Parts: sequence; C-alpha cells; structure tokens
Amino acid sequence: MCGIVGYVGHQSAGPILLEGLHRLEYRGYDSSGIAVLDRDGAIAVLKRQGKLRDLEAAIDVMPAGGAGIGHTRWATHGVPSDRNAHPHASSSGDVVVVQNGIVENYRSLKVELESSLLDRGQGWLSETDTEVIPELIARELDRGCSFVEALRAALGRLQGANAVAAFHRADPSRIYAARKGSAGGIVIGYGDGEMFIASDLPALLPHTTAVYHLEDGEIATIDAEGAVVDRANQPPLRPQPQRVELDPVAIARGPYRHFMLKEMYEQPRALSDTIRGRARLDPPSALADEFNLTDNQLRSVERVLVIGMGTSLHAAMIGRWWLERIAGIPADFDNASEFRFRAPVIGSSTLVVSVTQSGETIDTLGAMDQVRERWGAPQVVITNVDGSEATRKADASILLRCGPEVGVASTKTFVGSLAALYLLACRIGRARGALDETELTESLEHLLTVPSLVERGLQLSEQCSEIAKSYTSAANFLVLGRGIEHPIAMEAALKCKEISYVHAEGYAAGEMKHGPIALLDQKFPVIALATRGPLFDKMMSAIQQVSARQAPVIAIGDEGDTELAELADHYLGVPHATDLLTPFALTPVVQLLAYHIALARGLDIDQPRNLAKTVTVE
Ligand code: F6R
Repeated sequence: MCGIVGYVGHQSAGPILLEGLHRLEYRGYDSSGIAVLDRDGAIAVLKRQGKLRDLEAAIDVMPAGGAGIGHTRWATHGVPSDRNAHPHASSSGDVVVVQNGIVENYRSLKVELESSLLDRGQGWLSETDTEVIPELIARELDRGCSFVEALRAALGRLQGANAVAAFHRADPSRIYAARKGSAGGIVIGYGDGEMFIASDLPALLPHTTAVYHLEDGEIATIDAEGAVVDRANQPPLRPQPQRVELDPVAIARGPYRHFMLKEMYEQPRALSDTIRGRARLDPPSALADEFNLTDNQLRSVERVLVIGMGTSLHAAMIGRWWLERIAGIPADFDNASEFRFRAPVIGSSTLVVSVTQSGETIDTLGAMDQVRERWGAPQVVITNVDGSEATRKADASILLRCGPEVGVASTKTFVGSLAALYLLACRIGRARGALDETELTESLEHLLTVPSLVERGLQLSEQCSEIAKSYTSAANFLVLGRGIEHPIAMEAALKCKEISYVHAEGYAAGEMKHGPIALLDQKFPVIALATRGPLFDKMMSAIQQVSARQAPVIAIGDEGDTELAELADHYLGVPHATDLLTPFALTPVVQLLAYHIALARGLDIDQPRNLAKTVTVE
C-alpha cells in the first residue's frame, strides 16, 4: 500500500527520499514521486509510473534542497500514471502533499473547489482523490490561517482515513505530517540536525532508531531540530522520541535471492521467538506473562471469534480448530471485511481475537472498532508490529516477535500467528479447566517441537523446485486438504495466486465431488495434503477420485508413506506431527512449492503486481 517519506535537515533531501522509498517498496506500489523544496522556495516535483528505477532514470539532475516529501502510490482512484502519481500540488503551486488513504467524499469536494480553480483558468490535473487536499489547505491559507490550522481544517473536511505529509513554499525549513483515522502509520525519526518521516520503520532505521509514532488526530510540524505535535483543543507538545530495537541487518536480504525466501528460512527462529517464555513446562503455563487478560476474565468468556484477512484469516481458521479441541470452547472465524457489514450476533462474553501481522489492515481495524462500539467485547490482537494501531485498540496483545517481514507474501508471520493462537487456546483451556496439568504439559511439549518440524520441511526445497519445473505452464491448481489441513490448502492456493499468478483454489477435499471435480483433466494438477491423521483414509479416497480423472497429483504426506507415494505422480514427505500440529509440517512445503513455481516463471516474488504488504484501504 502507499508509502510516505519525508526529510528536513542539512543534507540534500532528494537522495534520502529515494532511498527511503526503496525501503518501502515491499509495501507494493505502481508509481512513485518526490518533491523537494530549496531554501529560496523553489519546488521540484518529480514523479513516474512504474518502479522507482523508472523515476530515478527520469531524474537528470537531482534537485537541490534540504526539505522534501516522497511517495510510493498503490492506485485506488485513477489508473497508475505519471500524472496520478504523488506528490500533488495546489493550483497555486505553493502547497505540496502526499497521502495514504482514501478521501471518500472527494467528488463533492472537487465540485466545491472547482470554481476557484476555474477562476484561475485551471482544472484538476489528476484523477486522484488526493488533489483536493492541497487545494483545501491552500484555500485556508488564503483565509489567513497558519499552515497547521489550514491542515487541520482541510483534514476536518475529509471523510475516510488518511495520513498525509506536506510542505509549503513560504516555509522551506519545515515539513508537516498528519494522521486522521487508521490509514497506516506515520513515524517521525529524530536525527542529529535532521529529521525524517516514513510510513514504516524500515525506511528510518538506516538513519535513526529514535522515533515517535504519530497518533490519530495529531499534526506534526517538523524542522531540522525536532517536531512539535498539535492535537485538537490541546496545547502543542514536543514528544519524547522512543528507542526502537529493530536491527537494520534483520531487514537486509542477506545472501537470499528474495526476502520471501529469507523469511521462509527464518521461520524456525521466528517460531522459537514467538514461543519463547510463553510455553513453560515446570510447572506448565501458557502465555503466563505479557498478557493482559486474567484467568477470571478468560473463565467468563463463552465463545471466541477469530477474525482476519487473507493469510491471517487462514491462521484464524486453524485457530478455531485449536480453540474447540484444546480449550473446549465454542469458536468461530470470520473474514473481517464481511463481519463488519453483517449483523453478527456476539455479546460481551465473546472474546474477539484479531489476527493481523501488520496491525494496520483497515478491514480488521474497522471490525475491532465495531466490536468495541457495539458490544464492548474483550479483544485480543495477534500481531507482529508493536505499537501498531491494532495493539492500541485491543485489551491484550500477543506480539509475534518474528522480526520485520518485508516480502509481500506473509510467511514467517503466518506460522508465528499459528503458534500464538495455539498458546492462546492452551491458556484459555487451562483457565476453563478443559486441560489438566498433564494435558497442558503435553500440549506445550508438542508446541515446542514445531520449530524443528518447520526446519525439516524447509529441507525439501530442492524437491519442490524439481516438481515446480514440471508445472511452470499449468494454468490452474486445485489444492485439497481436510480437517485442520483445509486452511493450509487455502493458504497454499493463496500463495500460488499471489506470487506465481497461477489460478489456484484451496478446497476441503470432501467438497471436491460437489463441483470442482468437473474441472479436472490431465492438465489440471492437484496438490493433496494427506498426513496420517484421522481423515487420512478420506483423503486417500479423494486422491483416487482425482487420479481417476487423470489429473496429476502432487501429494504431501508423512515421511516414508509409500502407500501415498504410490498413488501420486509426485510425493513430498514431511516429518510426522501430532494431528493438531500438521499445519506446521505442511506450511513450509506449500510455501516452497509456490515460491519455486514463481521462480520458474521468472516473476517478481517480493513485490507481486497489484499487491500491498499493508492494506490500508477498503
Ligand atoms: C498474503 C498476505 C495477505 C495478508 C492480509 C492481511 O500472503 O500477506 O493476505 O495476510 O493482507 O494482512 P495483515 O495480516 O497485516 O492484517
């Protein structure tokens, strides 16, 4: 999703803005731009459709100036094009803005502002919603407001969640940043005689680890020496920056060809970090510390609802299994974007668990708001980003501690979310008396084996690569699984779609004969997840039905399963796991298959087309 950067200080802003934008590339974008302001008030706006390399190629001479803002745009209103790329200037050319989010009422604002544009003999220069923002600010400035007042008045006119950065020709020593609602964060970075802003920490870390996260409703005025933050009806304050501990090395790709590959190989370590100190054996306890809900509160919970989007929704589906089986509590999962607009029947005794690696997905945040406003139900968030908006909305957070995930396709945060959900099920199960000490110990002992399960699964990379080469031209895949492996089938299909651009459907195998089987022929490969759990025989029947239609079968099952291997065209053996933990054994293998299919097709694995790492628009 769109990314914002900004700089003011003693260095030349242009190269710093471009470098910052490179570090936000993983969020996904289809055009980019920078605007630089020099000491004399000269403004240079440079923008291009395509990748940052296209923008850089178009810059003959880097504009001089020690202040500027930059943007990577993920198109919502108006096609990806040079003219729709940000930054956008007011018709006077004096106010320059970049924006994340959506101005939902931009049509009516365009009509309202049009007459003053026409008076100047001008029209709108883009199809974006963004362009109304500098125009609104400029109008307020013309009325004699200060820049902060003008920005606040302009934001007050916008419907929808928005984050903006801006500057004004009249004041080359300052840039401004503001947040209204949950349109992704803005972080202010404190340097020595220079200041930075960015949507995400990775863009700041090469320069500083002293940061301030701008809150909803705040407007920051930033010069080379620091920032002043204005809040409505409160005196301005100079915030104290906090130190962040993110290691810049952790966000570098290292020897790996892609961030996605690196992050897949980090999964055993990431899982150990998620579990560390939260699965104690003697005496047994799950999530004993750093968790704000007491056993008493958990005992009063009558039902758990797990929500999320995309990969996080697949984790939520598996979470339901564990909550039912381990905690013995009624549980369900829901797609956050659908949940928000239904009339769900939940009450204050429902625990709502949101899974969101970024903590900023707008649909999930919207659902959390609704839960708080309508039912006041207790909320837990499972997220990788400390301080993210979701952590502020929840009563308790379980931080994944997976380290930054740069690849657009979620990998290590998926397994981290699974581990967190499993721990939560254990904690609720123990609080409710569904697990005795021995059962809790056994459940936690099983969980402690998952880093090594994943590690061993990752050793199948070569085999996955060989199989992928046989299917580089396949136009479709069906992925089948049953029980707790059904969500993994869906996750496998999602990974194929997003990085390999191959159409794939994840299905509960029992459902296949109710429709999808009509698709099958020798050109329609089927990936079958079939470990030796309670539903193994039923999966074997499904595979027989697939083979009878001559569709090639890639079976993933337990190591040494000759019966399965004989039935399949290709077979991948994963380490044996207890039937509740097979998702951990299967996940690395389905990720590797999708990765190698994408690699064989020569695709941009870390920045798949049209996708964004953090989805901050509806
Ligand atoms: C797929 C993927 C997305 C996210 C989804 C929710 O690999 O990453 O489907 O899972 O956009 O994002 P979060 O977890 O940040 O709420």
